[in-house]
Amino acid sequence: MSAERAKYGAAAWADLKGKLPNPYPRIMGPRAMEYLQEVVDSGLTTSMISRFEERFARELGVKHCIATPGCTPALAALAASFPMEYGDEVIVSPITDYGTIQGLFRHGFIPVFADTAPGSPNLSAETIEPCISDRTRAVLCVHKTGLMCDMDPINALAEKHGLIVYEDACQAVFSQYKGRYAGTLAKAAGFSFDSEKTMGSDVGGCVVTDDDELAERLRFMAHSRGGVSRPGYGRLHTEPGYAFRMPECTAAISLAQLDIVHENVARRDKMIRYMSCLIDEVPGVKSLPIPAYQDVYSCWMAGLTVDPEQFTCTVAEFADQLAEAGIPGAGMGAYYLMGEACTFLSEYAAAGKFPFSKPPATRDYTYGPQQTPVAAEFLTRFIRWSTFCEKYTEEHCEVAAAIIRGVAEANRR
Ligand SMILES: Cc1ncc(COP(=O)(O)O)c(C=O)c1O
Repeated sequence: MSAERAKYGAAAWADLKGKLPNPYPRIMGPRAMEYLQEVVDSGLTTSMISRFEERFARELGVKHCIATPGCTPALAALAASFPMEYGDEVIVSPITDYGTIQGLFRHGFIPVFADTAPGSPNLSAETIEPCISDRTRAVLCVHKTGLMCDMDPINALAEKHGLIVYEDACQAVFSQYKGRYAGTLAKAAGFSFDSEKTMGSDVGGCVVTDDDELAERLRFMAHSRGGVSRPGYGRLHTEPGYAFRMPECTAAISLAQLDIVHENVARRDKMIRYMSCLIDEVPGVKSLPIPAYQDVYSCWMAGLTVDPEQFTCTVAEFADQLAEAGIPGAGMGAYYLMGEACTFLSEYAAAGKFPFSKPPATRDYTYGPQQTPVAAEFLTRFIRWSTFCEKYTEEHCEVAAAIIRGVAEANRR
């Protein structure tokens, strides 16, 4: 394989330049060392994981939190825990991260990407409805960049068709929809605390749910490796479960991040709203619209769209010039179109490889930009700005706006 391997965390951000802040080095929280010290001093007898689980659940207002080493495993454990059969379909947001679909595909479920609502990076009840088939069992909603999907109509539609709804809230920790937190609006939700996220705790994540039975099954599948203890014998593995336990040190850092997350989210919300106003003053450039139903925008990643008709350069060149002029990490986000970026999906579907073999599949599937044309078109105009973070002040926003205006005017048609 000749392509360079993908990089994650600080390594992926090491070469960024520009005068504006970036999240690294991360602000760990004033009690991080104290919590870590407790793990070491106790010789691994503390229950930092339970402490984190209880506190995260309490602050979100849900009954259960099941900590995992990341959201990719969290969503895999959820896929393993739902009552679904190989070949069942899950309707998913088209603009997302690989971690959203990894687990459901590995469990033999077929991802069906619904299109995005016009102007938004998220799906909606209107775009989900045409994707529903007799094999659809669930809908997985991603709150992309921290902007929330309009969950009430989605839940109503799902109820009509008897579908499970769950959330990928990785990018939206403590975002609020009509006064309710992301991750509390459906059956269950996955969160990520990977080092790039708003609660960056290295490699961590969790599932939250109010459903006692699901929580118990998740602990069994994700933490107990599908094992039960039989007296006089030992462990019996009655299901092919996982060893997806969050490490104690990650739980310690996650707790430290919880100490500062509300302050950070409030700052991100305030700064992105200010930044959006400044962006919208530049003709031909638009911020991502913040829906009226969203009370708090826990903005993990900022973004803007560019009207290519108004400029002599391409959108990719516009993004490169932004990065060159000082917005660290500005670039195109075409790779978020999962139906295209997961090249294995088209290959498996075309070759009829499991789960596209018949049975379990009952029809043919194709993947690519033509499946979700609105999302694909949106991404041709979208510039991601993944370094936006709680370190931003009004002055930083004004510097960034001046950079955007400068690039726009230098290329105006
Ligand atoms: C929307 C979304 N889902 C899932 C994931 C995977 O999370 P993790 O890195 O914790 O496995 C990410 C991480 O980037 C994400 O942004």
